[in-house]
Amino acid sequence: MAKQQTMYITTPIYYPNDIPHVGHAYTTLAADILARWHTLQGKDVFFLTGTDEHGKKLQEAAQKAGKQPKAFIDTIVPEFKEAWKKLNIHYDRFIRTTDADHEAVVQKILTKVHKKGDIYLGSYEGLYCTGCEAYYTEKDAPEKKCPTHKRPLEQLKEPTYFFKLSSYQKKILDHYKKHPEFIQPANRAQEIINRVEEGLQDLSISRTSFKWGIPLPFDTKHVTYVWFDALLNYYSATETKGKEKYWPADVHFIGKDILWFHAVYWPAILLSAGLPLPTTIFAHGWWTIHNEKMGKSAGNALKVDQLISYAGVDSARYFLFRNGVFGEDGDFSEQFLKERHNNELANKLGNLVSRVSTLAETHGLTKTKPLPTNKVIAQYTQELESYQFDKALTTLFTFIDSLNELIQSKKPWETKDTKVLYQVADGLKTVAILLSPFMPETTEKIAHTFHFELTKKQLASPLEVDTIKKSPILFQKIDMASKPVQQTKKEEKGKQNNSPERTNDTKKIKKQEQAKGGKIAYDDFSKVELKVGLIKDVKPHPNADKLYVLTVDLGEEKTRTIVAGLRNHYQPEHLKGKKAIFVANLAPVTLRGIESDGMILAAVNDDDSHVVILQPEQDLPQGSKIR
Ligand code: MSP
Repeated sequence: MAKQQTMYITTPIYYPNDIPHVGHAYTTLAADILARWHTLQGKDVFFLTGTDEHGKKLQEAAQKAGKQPKAFIDTIVPEFKEAWKKLNIHYDRFIRTTDADHEAVVQKILTKVHKKGDIYLGSYEGLYCTGCEAYYTEKDAPEKKCPTHKRPLEQLKEPTYFFKLSSYQKKILDHYKKHPEFIQPANRAQEIINRVEEGLQDLSISRTSFKWGIPLPFDTKHVTYVWFDALLNYYSATETKGKEKYWPADVHFIGKDILWFHAVYWPAILLSAGLPLPTTIFAHGWWTIHNEKMGKSAGNALKVDQLISYAGVDSARYFLFRNGVFGEDGDFSEQFLKERHNNELANKLGNLVSRVSTLAETHGLTKTKPLPTNKVIAQYTQELESYQFDKALTTLFTFIDSLNELIQSKKPWETKDTKVLYQVADGLKTVAILLSPFMPETTEKIAHTFHFELTKKQLASPLEVDTIKKSPILFQKIDMASKPVQQTKKEEKGKQNNSPERTNDTKKIKKQEQAKGGKIAYDDFSKVELKVGLIKDVKPHPNADKLYVLTVDLGEEKTRTIVAGLRNHYQPEHLKGKKAIFVANLAPVTLRGIESDGMILAAVNDDDSHVVILQPEQDLPQGSKIR
């Protein structure tokens, strides 16, 4: 049997000094999409992500939090893992640079490179940015301010070991020439080539001014420069048994901010260590907000939960890659995301699936010659495998348009033409399989409705005819006028289940209220369900200074998340463990990106300066009703 082809894909390892945001999610999703695609193609895929845990930046962040570095980082790492889980990202290993196996490999490589004569002792003086963990020359930072973080640079001087980067200039340039695919996209490559041609200075690779790092094996007073340590993660993850086959990596996905480290330092380190170089380093653009890079330092980072709250996971995954060119910057807009969700996902794909499955339920499908899909498949494959995600999605949606047009022109609801229904259903099979790396949950539902599997084999074989049942709604449309997404979804769900239509109830109450001069009918008030709830946890709202996010036990199977404006009035420890009264049957609302499923009752004085929560006078079990 032929050996299974391997595919090794990586993301940068992220600094765990803050919880993950859309920028981090973007790179990790790109890797997930590509990994899913190559798995679908039958390849043996290894997808690596993780965290970059050493260095001055992390040491300072831990100090600020009053913790030891490792203990501090241990509280952030689960946030990354949780975010990737929520986004349906399936990595094969989450590497941490504090993992023992990684530290051992870094020391091994340092010893090797040192023995080779590529490391020597000197001293370094320069302008340092802790945010980037890098020195800048006056040329790159003429005002002595970091070009990325816009903060003043620090003048640092320390004894340091240097890596002879300068002696790799020619070899690196030769490699670029021989392997034009090494730096992508091509327009970014030229800038790097020009800079390398100007000459390379040796790289300071050790620090003595702080301790949080991997000690140099040949001089333990020094810790390893964080980038020398971090870059090696890509290789060290393949040094374990069974993983050796994956080196060299096929593609390192990174953001454009760290291209220099990857396109210059990284090949030089590998060349010095006598290791083969990766095939491609692909640097994508930045997500900006109002044209400023999204990130912790700018204070404008959009957190993963918020991203998901707009229209769900699959729509977020779709939007990030549909809305712009992967190699270029893009300005993030909630409105664009919702528009694409409505216009492309709900109106084009969702409606098509709903229409065809409903007609097929009534009339059935008759097997016939499928529509030709080879061209679409070939084009989509070429675009995806060359990292043109937006183009691949356009190709697919052009095909979806053609399926919609076919249905529209053939009118099978009038003609009862079950052959054309079959052709469109078969086309939807192609769509779902190709789209599955981007939208795993939605495409799983399509596959379930039309009875096929999301596999390469099924891509090549015609759809088998089976009894079809109407598909559940794939994308709830978002009311662009005002309502938060989650609320819209729940209301729609309520309608389908014939449960009370809450908005209409509220409207009715308001009308009657006006009619009665501000008073509401007894019956109307009795609709409000008040209950005793136990506050199990209290967290500050990540996007609002006045709000807490409460975890509340209302005696139900699951706890609820309830957002409350109590931050100016209570310390978390004065709320945690308390029982209070809650409105239990409010339609959920999204408050600054977090869905709130209920409301805590509080009494407020005239000028709002005093807010006190209402509590039962005696202890009652959570879930007790208030009448
Ligand atoms: N720890 C280094 C990387 C070491 S890799 C051997 C680092 N970490 S980071 O936490 O700052 O993450 C950087 C990466 O996150 C960027 O390269 C990019 O992939 C992603 N992004 C962070 N902010 C971003 C945007 N605003 N937009 C798009 N991606 C960005 O640098």
